[in-house]
Amino acid sequence: MNIAFFSYKSYDKQWFDQHVDSDNYKINYFRVKLDKSTATYARGADVICAFVNDDLSKEVINILSDMGVKMIALRCAGFNNVDLDAAAAKGIPVYRVPEYSPHAVAEHAVALILTLNRKTHKAYNRVRDGNFSLSRLTGFNLYGKTVGVLGTGKIGRVFADLMHGFGCRILLYDKFPDTSLEEKGYRYVDLSTLLKESDIVSLHVPLMPETAHIINRETLKLMKDNAMLINTSRGGLINTEHTLEALRNKKLGYLGIDVYEQEEGLFFHNFQEQIIDDNTLALLMSFPNVLVTAHQAFFTQEALDEITKTTLQNIQDFNEGRSNENIIDTP
Ligand code: NAI
Repeated sequence: MNIAFFSYKSYDKQWFDQHVDSDNYKINYFRVKLDKSTATYARGADVICAFVNDDLSKEVINILSDMGVKMIALRCAGFNNVDLDAAAAKGIPVYRVPEYSPHAVAEHAVALILTLNRKTHKAYNRVRDGNFSLSRLTGFNLYGKTVGVLGTGKIGRVFADLMHGFGCRILLYDKFPDTSLEEKGYRYVDLSTLLKESDIVSLHVPLMPETAHIINRETLKLMKDNAMLINTSRGGLINTEHTLEALRNKKLGYLGIDVYEQEEGLFFHNFQEQIIDDNTLALLMSFPNVLVTAHQAFFTQEALDEITKTTLQNIQDFNEGRSNENIIDTP
C-alpha cells in the first residue's frame, strides 16, 4: 500500500520510518503542504497522510479521489481542515488520532501560563546578559486564582486537574458537561459566568462554526480586567483583531497562544532573517504581555510515538478491513 505523506518534517520521518511495516507499506514523504496545487503529488497513492494545516477541501478531495486515493489518515486530533461531506460523497473514509497525549497539550497550556506570569523567558535573557535586576518581573500567585476551562474533553479535563494542583478554583464550560468532574470540586457554569469570574481562561473546545470566534469583542468585554487568555486549541476560536484591541486597551492582561488564525504557511516553517508578511502577528508579538509558540503543544516524545503508532494502525485496519473507532463520522 502506498502512502503519500504531506507536510513532513524530519522528526515525522524519523518516527514513521522506525515503526512502519516497510514490507507492506511504502511511504512517500513530501515536504509541501497538501493543497490543490500539490494534490497530484499523491498520484499512485492509496492513502493520504495529512496534518493540521493541509488543505482537504472539496476541491482537493475530488482531485485525490480521481487519482484513486482510498483513505485519508490524519496524524492529528482536529479535523476542521477536512470537508467531511466531500470525503463521504467520494467514499473516502477519514481517520484521525483522537487522543495521543492530552497531557502534552495541557502541560503546554500550563507552560504558557507560568511563562507569561513569572516571565522566565525574560529573566533567562536578562541574567545571561548580566542583568540581575528584578524590575518588571513581578508575577502573581496561581494559588487561589480562578481558572476557567472552555471545553472539558480529553485535554480540558487534564488541564483542569493540573491547575487544581496549583490550588486554583476551577470553573468549567462545555456544551455537554460531564458532571462527574464536579465531584472534584470543579463547577460547571455558563460561558458568561466563566468569563466574568476567571483570572485565567483557557480554550479547549474544537474549532467548528459554533465555536469560531467564541472570543470576540463582546466576550472579551465580559472578562475580568487584566485576565489571562490561553489558546492551545485552534486559532479560529479567537478573533485576533478584537483581541489586539483588548490588549491595546489594557483590558486583557496577558495572551498566550500556541495557535493563530492565520498560522497556515507560517507555523512549522523557518523564516529567520526574512520579513514575515503578517502585520497582525508582528503586532501581536510586539506586546510584552503576549507569548506566541508555533503550534508545539502536541510536541512531546510520547505524543509523537502515539501519533505514529495510531496513524499506522488506522491505515493497517483500513487495509485489512477491520473496524476502527478512529474513523470520523460524517456530520
Ligand atoms: P475533545 O473532543 O476530547 O473535547 C472537546 C470538548 O469540547 C468536548 O467536551 C465537547 O463537548 C466540547 N465542545 C464541543 N463543541 C462545543 C461548543 N460549541 N461549546 C462548548 N463546548 C463544546 O477534544 P480534545 O482532545 O480535548 O482537544 C481539544 C482541541 O485541542 C482539539 O479540537 C484540537 O483543535 C486542539 N488540539 C491542539 C493541539 C496543539 O498542538 N496545539 C494538539 C491536539 C489538539
